[in-house]
Amino acid sequence: MVWKWLGALVAFPLQMLYLVAKAAVGLVLPGRLRDLSRETVLITGGGRGIGRQLAREFAGRGARKIVLWGRTEKCLKETTEEIRQMGTECHYFICDVGNREEVYQTAKAVREKVGDITILVNNAAVVHGKSLMDSDDDALLKSQHINTLGQFWTTKAFLPRMLELQNGHIVCLNSVLALSAIPGAIDYCTSKASTFAFMESLTLGLLDCPGVSATTVLPFHTSTEMFQGMRVSQRQWPGGRWKPCSSIRPFCCFRGPCTPSSS
Ligand SMILES: NC(=O)c1ccc[n+]([C@@H]2O[C@H](COP(=O)([O-])OP(=O)(O)OC[C@H]3O[C@@H](n4cnc5c(N)ncnc54)[C@H](OP(=O)(O)O)[C@@H]3O)[C@@H](O)[C@H]2O)c1
Repeated sequence: MVWKWLGALVAFPLQMLYLVAKAAVGLVLPGRLRDLSRETVLITGGGRGIGRQLAREFAGRGARKIVLWGRTEKCLKETTEEIRQMGTECHYFICDVGNREEVYQTAKAVREKVGDITILVNNAAVVHGKSLMDSDDDALLKSQHINTLGQFWTTKAFLPRMLELQNGHIVCLNSVLALSAIPGAIDYCTSKASTFAFMESLTLGLLDCPGVSATTVLPFHTSTEMFQGMRVSQRQWPGGRWKPCSSIRPFCCFRGPCTPSSS
């Protein structure tokens, strides 16, 4: 027993040294980029905002096919056209990720029309943006259905085939607010915190599954429609400067699981 504790006492600082050294090397040397030429990427909420920017980045980095999901046809169509003009095959499907049956049916349609999805980016989300007492009950439920449960349904729809193929990556566009909540967006912060736990559990469950991994991304405040008009003071959201949408990069171009990470 004593030897076991002594061993742990020696191993801990060595492990810390190793991890610090590894992180320092990672800062200096560029990460190994993954070849996307055989990957089919599905981005939920890919019509606008960060989802649209990700579609551009995936196309620019050579993804074979891109599939966009969302509820608004106009922006999906525009983004699809833009990606096709970049020379990448792109398709869009109208799908509300908060609706379980719609997710399963649309996933089937995607498999039939486009083929297997090998990278799933769970990006779609909404914010009601009010305090608990000011929030309508249905609006509170809606955020949980879209932001949290939506990821259960999309992941359940595509993960089994990824496991069969031994090739797949589930990505979650989470938020820094999953770890550091703000007042006035209680629906959003709660949904992001539970999605964080969902991804932690999923990632650990995938450790023994060859070729399939998961990544959680925690972006800082980014200039899109999402938080437009929402007023949060510096005291409530310290250091709250908005990043341009173009600062978003396709994190899962890098090999292996890396959860959590920050863009
Ligand atoms: N902006 C930020 O400051 C920030 C910071 C950290 C994390 N994030 C995260 O980044 C992701 C993208 O956010 P964003 O800033 O790009 O927001 P956005 O501009 O509001 O875009 C949200 C996207 O999600 C789609 N969407 C919403 N509800 C949907 C549903 N039920 N089914 C399918 N698609 C749905 C929207 O399309 P339709 O309306 O057409 O359905 C839209 O394409 C979100 O997960 C967000 O939480 C954003």
